[in-house]
Amino acid sequence: MTDSPAARTASSSTPGAPATDRAAADQALKAKHRAMWASGDYPTLATDLIWSLGDTLVDAVGVEPGDRVLDVAAGSGNAAIPAALRGGAVVASDLTPELFEVGRRRAADAGADLEWREADAESLPFDDAEFDVVVSCVGVMFAPHHREAAGELLRVTRPGGRIGLLSWTPDGFIGQMFRAMKPYAAPLPSGAEPAPLWGDEQHVRELLGDGVDDLTARRESIVIDRFDSPEAFRDYFKQNYGPTIAVYGRIADDGEQVRALDDALVELARSHGLGSPGDAMRWEYLLVTARRS
Ligand SMILES: C[S@@+](CC[C@H](N)C(=O)[O-])C[C@H]1O[C@@H](n2cnc3c(N)ncnc32)[C@H](O)[C@@H]1O
Repeated sequence: MTDSPAARTASSSTPGAPATDRAAADQALKAKHRAMWASGDYPTLATDLIWSLGDTLVDAVGVEPGDRVLDVAAGSGNAAIPAALRGGAVVASDLTPELFEVGRRRAADAGADLEWREADAESLPFDDAEFDVVVSCVGVMFAPHHREAAGELLRVTRPGGRIGLLSWTPDGFIGQMFRAMKPYAAPLPSGAEPAPLWGDEQHVRELLGDGVDDLTARRESIVIDRFDSPEAFRDYFKQNYGPTIAVYGRIADDGEQVRALDDALVELARSHGLGSPGDAMRWEYLLVTARRS
């Protein structure tokens, strides 16, 4: 008998440990991730800053009326909602169902009808080949075990179906922000890989391998003009963005480290062109489309 995706994930995360311990460790890790993404106010951040990326992704992959579409790590639905508005039969899935409440409201306001499902990208509760189109907008990149997640994307896409992935690049603004936070962050658990690797074309080509044909990848960027100063950017992320909140939570008792991270984030934003009101930053991402072989 073959292992379930959850068991495969658990076995890759802590090799050598008994299967039940590995599964429990994976569950604990995912619970931690869920709490992190539910903290702060990710839906507001997504709405304020990157809602348009969902349209960009859906346009690139192409959604036709009647397509069965899965949005993996959909958050509050910035890709799922436009896919539904194009006539797709859409499932928005995410590890963090707390984000669905805003998504449901936004979908209702937009007149979009879709299904919301709690799901770990590394163990999707869907049948093989169930979807014509599978997308993820800066989403699946945050599942810690890249090979398991890529395997699941491939498994649920029908042969000839399309996969579209939009991911922050390692050298773009958000990739560099994770690099700036790394000295203060918890070490990656065994078997986990850094999220921004999904923004590296070669890494994605290796992950999808011969499971896809016609892979295209292009780097683009989104203009962020919402912040009047580097400090305003930093404070907004400290308040709203789960991964930033988690890192500050870890060093909260160490004023020196807090000041050092404060300065690093301000310097990062400044080095990306944020100096005074009216300035904008460009956040680079990799946009991948491919056809399931
Ligand atoms: C940066 S947000 C992106 C959300 C949305 N796609 C967007 O563009 O606004 C990352 C999302 O990944 C989800 N996520 C993290 N780990 C996951 C996992 N293992 N399985 C499914 N979703 C996951 C989080 O809950 C969060 O909604």
